[in-house]
Amino acid sequence: MKLVFATNNLNKLREVQALVPPQIELVSLTDIGCTEDIPETSATIEGNAKQKTQYIKEHYGLDCFADDTGLEVNALNGAPGVYSARYAGDDKNADANMHKLLEGLKGTENRKAQFKTVISLELNGKQELFTGICEGTITHEKRGEGGFGYDPIFLPKGYSETFAELPLLEKNKIGHRGKAVQQLIQFLNR
Ligand code: IMP
Repeated sequence: MKLVFATNNLNKLREVQALVPPQIELVSLTDIGCTEDIPETSATIEGNAKQKTQYIKEHYGLDCFADDTGLEVNALNGAPGVYSARYAGDDKNADANMHKLLEGLKGTENRKAQFKTVISLELNGKQELFTGICEGTITHEKRGEGGFGYDPIFLPKGYSETFAELPLLEKNKIGHRGKAVQQLIQFLNR
């Protein structure tokens, strides 16, 4: 069976393909000829994930899944949350986003935060949601060269290294996206 993963990130695609049952062949947005920007206008992470899968179902008539991720910071009332990618502007610049976040937390002792990934699945006329959360704290400065996005300033709970300092395997094991993907896989394997 072919299942669309509504992404053009080939790393994500390969990573998840290795985990799903072998009878499921994942195909990307490029594979189905979807080159337009899928609207992500919801006020919630769940809403954006759903919006992406509903779009593919409506426009291409295909079963699919999509993920959406945000970083929720307690002292900022959950910001940047659903706006994580564009926190400092439409160019989605990771350094600018981290700089804005660190400035916003200057002098703040409560550094608690969590990453949240929601995966929406459209399969056989039904919609399912899977959520993965990784709790941690925001550092006072950037540390590490690995990962992407906010990884250099996120210290997962129980670790003294940021996500950008941890090996990818470790990040995937304890991380938000890995946890959501595991639930998706369990569901597909049922
Ligand atoms: P997306 O939903 O995967 O596009 O993620 C939204 C934004 O959240 C991205 O632009 C990144 O800035 C950030 N982000 C998503 N996943 C991660 C992660 O695993 N580590 C750090 N930042 C992330």
